[in-house]
Amino acid sequence: MTLPFDVPYQWVKPFFHALDAETAHRLTILALKKGLAPPSKTVHDPRLKVSLWDRQFPNPVGLAAGFDKNADIPGPMLNMGFGFVELGTVTPKPQEGNPRPRIFRCAPHEAVINRMGFPNQGVDVFKSNIAKFLSEKPRPQGLIGINIGMNKNQKDPAKDYCRLIRHLGSYADYFTVNVSSPNTPGLRDLQKREHLLELIKKVKEQRTKSCDKKFPPPILVKLAPDLDEAQQEELAQTAIDAEIDGLILTNTTLARPDDLPEKFKSQTGGLSGAPLRDKSTEIIRSFYKLTKGAIPIIGVGGISSGQEAYAKIKAGASLVQLYSALVYHGPELITQINKDLIALLERDGLESITEAVGAETN
Ligand SMILES: Cc1cc2nc3c(=O)[nH]c(=O)nc-3n(C[C@H](O)[C@H](O)[C@H](O)COP(=O)(O)O)c2cc1C
Repeated sequence: MTLPFDVPYQWVKPFFHALDAETAHRLTILALKKGLAPPSKTVHDPRLKVSLWDRQFPNPVGLAAGFDKNADIPGPMLNMGFGFVELGTVTPKPQEGNPRPRIFRCAPHEAVINRMGFPNQGVDVFKSNIAKFLSEKPRPQGLIGINIGMNKNQKDPAKDYCRLIRHLGSYADYFTVNVSSPNTPGLRDLQKREHLLELIKKVKEQRTKSCDKKFPPPILVKLAPDLDEAQQEELAQTAIDAEIDGLILTNTTLARPDDLPEKFKSQTGGLSGAPLRDKSTEIIRSFYKLTKGAIPIIGVGGISSGQEAYAKIKAGASLVQLYSALVYHGPELITQINKDLIALLERDGLESITEAVGAETN
């Protein structure tokens, strides 16, 4: 079912923004689950197609992790025009996450702070939701990434990541090993070279056991933006040594730019949206250079326009994702970004979005 008429997001935004951010989000998920979705406006254009890891992405704009943690609404989100959606972060066992409130908006800065702590219904519910979606016919075009994480009390992280690959191995077009959410104690320690090498080795062994042999899903690693130069160099080399298939750059930041209002910036958690934009683009540029473009990058952080998506692509991202901008601009943004990307390709005389990847550094 779709809405009988197209309600512009700006009409319903005041209602949603009058609610606590998480309540608004839950209502959105509920409405989409009930089929109350705007009619599909997917942009079909061969110039936007991306071929990566032996997979075809209909366009380069994806939904970032955290929006659909339990795989409740992959279909409606793809229908909004995303080329791919990243579901999760899912953990093996269900968990509550941190006490509410735990998501905070700052509209004048188009920013969000969250300290969710991976609330989710666990792998069993996730698996049955994703299996149901994949069995539907016809289903919207677009690919499914699954973002995996560890339960809060897990002392041996690899166990959780491997368990998730074992259960979900046949459902993902790609897996994201999330080692960068700031709200799970100890998670970001997994970004240290020795820990990451060990973790990726185990995850890959599990992939060999649990996934399609001919067409195994790529393993991507999602990193934080809060990395100094030495850490970036070490991690880029680690990604090469571990033969990681791709990087997602970046997760939310712990930094707090000065110009944010005190009441907002004093909230604990990860900051996303516009204030993260340049920082994440810098990290993309840096990793693209350090890895000499050998490891595909999904760029994420503060994207709210075609120009901003294009800036990340030119800095080295093969695909992009967004989350926070949906809160401020609604689903129309996805179509707009894809249309703007086509206009930018035309302006630059390029025939495909892939030609723009890393163009600025070439
Ligand atoms: C409320 C909220 C929850 C999030 N949850 C997750 C998560 O579970 N796993 C993850 O890898 N990233 C999570 N993220 C981070 C986003 O995927 C993304 O990396 C980050 O928000 C930057 O993109 P944006 O500026 O477009 O939002 C979350 C972000 C927000 C705002």
